[in-house]
Amino acid sequence: MDDLLQKAADALRVAKRVSVLSGAGVSKESGIPTYREALTGLWSNYSFQELASPEGFRQNPGKVWDWYTERRMQLKTVYPNPGHIALAKLAALVPALTIITQNIDDLHERGGSHDVMHLHGKLNEVKCFYNCQGEPTLVNEDDFVHGESSPPTCPHCGRWLRPNVVWFGEMLPVGMFARAEAIAAESDVFIVAGTSGMVFPAAQLPLTAKESGATVIDINPDATDYDAFADISLRGGFGQIMPALFDLVSQGR
Ligand code: OAD
Repeated sequence: MDDLLQKAADALRVAKRVSVLSGAGVSKESGIPTYREALTGLWSNYSFQELASPEGFRQNPGKVWDWYTERRMQLKTVYPNPGHIALAKLAALVPALTIITQNIDDLHERGGSHDVMHLHGKLNEVKCFYNCQGEPTLVNEDDFVHGESSPPTCPHCGRWLRPNVVWFGEMLPVGMFARAEAIAAESDVFIVAGTSGMVFPAAQLPLTAKESGATVIDINPDATDYDAFADISLRGGFGQIMPALFDLVSQGR
């Protein structure tokens, strides 16, 4: 493991552009469950068709709204872990570092990262289900219209509000994936951390980077499909591996 960490640190030290694709695993050590892990993953305990699709929302808007409200509340009780913080510090050591996250939490930002793209939206944002004023029609909490029923309604059109997250069957935020692909293709080092690589198109970004010549580093306690082409597979939790990697990169300066 020490050799692999050293090899990863060497690649990072000379990189001009570093990109990171993060998934639920990076927030696990902060206390947020992942999606697909047996027993503990959200989708082993809840139905994603019911809770994470436009059809599920249409069928039971109150239930879906309440589930996300609970997750929004939970987010207030958790904090960035040492992995989030080390990644933010790494950004100061390299010329450019962009995080492309699939996570809807804000733990990268609260950990000190600035250049963060949220491919799957943000749990803390709310929009009109019909995007009545354009895509997305975001609404501030102060402007929610709370009636008898849940969810609250849009101040512009009076129809349902929903979380600004990407559900199954929906498109990613306009233009964002094209930007993510361009960033992946320009990377010298591409770190893929805490993702099972099951959800496309995000899952294809590491391959785009590899095909464009990047050194691909996978951080995950378990084997992933990325091992087939990753240059360096670091087996372990993000909260341990990322600080160790940061320490090595900073020592070499
Ligand atoms: P998954 O739940 O599919 O995968 C989580 C990954 O994190 C697995 O590969 C775990 O082995 C790994 N993992 C677990 N603990 C870890 C740790 N301490 N450090 C690093 N890795 C760890 O989550 P995602 O790949 O993020 O979509 O799922 C992708 C998308 O599917 C999510 O963004 C969400 C979900 O449905 C939407 O919300 C649209």
